[in-house]
Amino acid sequence: MTAASEVAGRAAVVCGVGAALPPHIVTNADLTARLDTTDEWIRSRTGITQRHVAGVDLSTTDLAVHAAAQALADGEPVTVEAVVVATTTPDRCCPATAPAVATRLGLTGVPAHDLAAGCTGFLYALATAAGLIAADTAQAVLVVGADRLATLPDPEDRTTVPLFGDGAGAVVLRRGGADEAGALGPVVLGSDGTGADLIRAPRPGALYMDGAEVFRHAVDRMSTASRQAASAAGWNVTDIDRLIPHQANSRITSFVARQLGIPDDRRLGNVGDVGNTGAASLPLLLARSAADGRLEPGHRTLLTAFGAGLTWGATTLTWPGLSPTRRPEGAGHDR
Ligand code: UT7
Repeated sequence: MTAASEVAGRAAVVCGVGAALPPHIVTNADLTARLDTTDEWIRSRTGITQRHVAGVDLSTTDLAVHAAAQALADGEPVTVEAVVVATTTPDRCCPATAPAVATRLGLTGVPAHDLAAGCTGFLYALATAAGLIAADTAQAVLVVGADRLATLPDPEDRTTVPLFGDGAGAVVLRRGGADEAGALGPVVLGSDGTGADLIRAPRPGALYMDGAEVFRHAVDRMSTASRQAASAAGWNVTDIDRLIPHQANSRITSFVARQLGIPDDRRLGNVGDVGNTGAASLPLLLARSAADGRLEPGHRTLLTAFGAGLTWGATTLTWPGLSPTRRPEGAGHDR
């Protein structure tokens, strides 16, 4: 039988956070110049005013490395023993992104793999990393969410082009006690393949999305998963200081907060500045909010996401004493 103290020592504790965005910004005005749309429509239907878009010189691997390097540099000094990269837009079908990310960070030899779960990928990766720690495979795991979703829409499709942007975010998880600040609570995850056709991209440039139906599922699934994760952590929803929802549309996150009874000033967001960045969305928002003070040590924080698959999830943590030194603007070379 496992002693209680040993179980407590197998929790996964967030001890570093970082993010990276491509330097090139595409504004709503840039889009109205080439698509049959308006700034007013995009803002009022989605909350988005601009998105960062990577050029051909900035790959998903590059973005992942920049975000991870910041998480490692700004966090507690730990020895990373595994790498998980959540992405729907790897640079190639084979090999996976994570081994290349690990090697570029000087971590050659550690277990490293990719994970695809749409915009919920980061939460799936957190659960996977917590499992690697619980299984004694690694004492510390680098978890990256990196996507170049701007590559997925048909460039002529006004219904999807305005929604998506590129970016990456990362956290470092280390083994620790369940009562420590930063310890992940239970991670609630789910999927429903009957909705596979609602968001699908058989290849880059050919994204199809049933926006209204996805909207409805997103509100419903994120609200339900959030309640389940809060309850599994022993929290009342009224205990939640900060709601960190996946950033696809500010109307969706507003509905989720309302359904949960969480006051709007506790709902954090950055979709206006970055659009929907897929698996990067949650860690990007964590890094930005920690840097600008909207997320403070001690805040009881609930993360939730929804994405293609369909997939969804939620988890909790009390935010630790972490604040990245830089805002996540400008991935590396040409900010
Ligand atoms: O990460 C998870 C995956 N994604 C999401 O969670 C996204 C979920 N869905 C949404 O965010 C929203 O459904 C959208 C933003 C995609 C669309 O908003 P909506 O309020 O559901 O609009 P709609 O699709 O019902 O379209 C309303 C109208 C249509 O015109 P008609 O048929 O009423 O004449 C569209 O053709 O708006 C039109 N429209 C546009 N008009 C100007 C669609 N895109 C545009 C556009 N500019 N860019």
